[in-house]
Amino acid sequence: MLGFDYNDKKILLANLNGKIYATDRICTHAEADLSNGILTEEGITCPLHLSVFNLETGMPQNGPADMPLRTYNVKIEQNEIYIEVD
Ligand code: FES
Repeated sequence: MLGFDYNDKKILLANLNGKIYATDRICTHAEADLSNGILTEEGITCPLHLSVFNLETGMPQNGPADMPLRTYNVKIEQNEIYIEVD
C-alpha cells in the first residue's frame, strides 16, 4: 500500500494480488489513515476500529464505518499508474 496527497485529496493505492486499486485514504468513520491499516483478501482494514473496506466498491463490510470510501478509476500504461481524480 502507498498513501499520498494530491491537491486536497488523500489517496491510498493498494496492490492486491497484482491488481492496483485507488481509494480515499481517510476512513469514513473517524478519519484514521488507512495507509496504516492491514491489506487482506477482504480489503483494507482500518487500523483504528477495524472496519474492512472493499477495494473495488469502497463499501464497508462491517461496522462501525457505515459510509463507503470513494474509489478512483486506475489505468496502467507502460508501467505508469494513472488515477482519474476529476
Ligand atoms: S476510524 Fe476507521 S473504523 Fe473507526
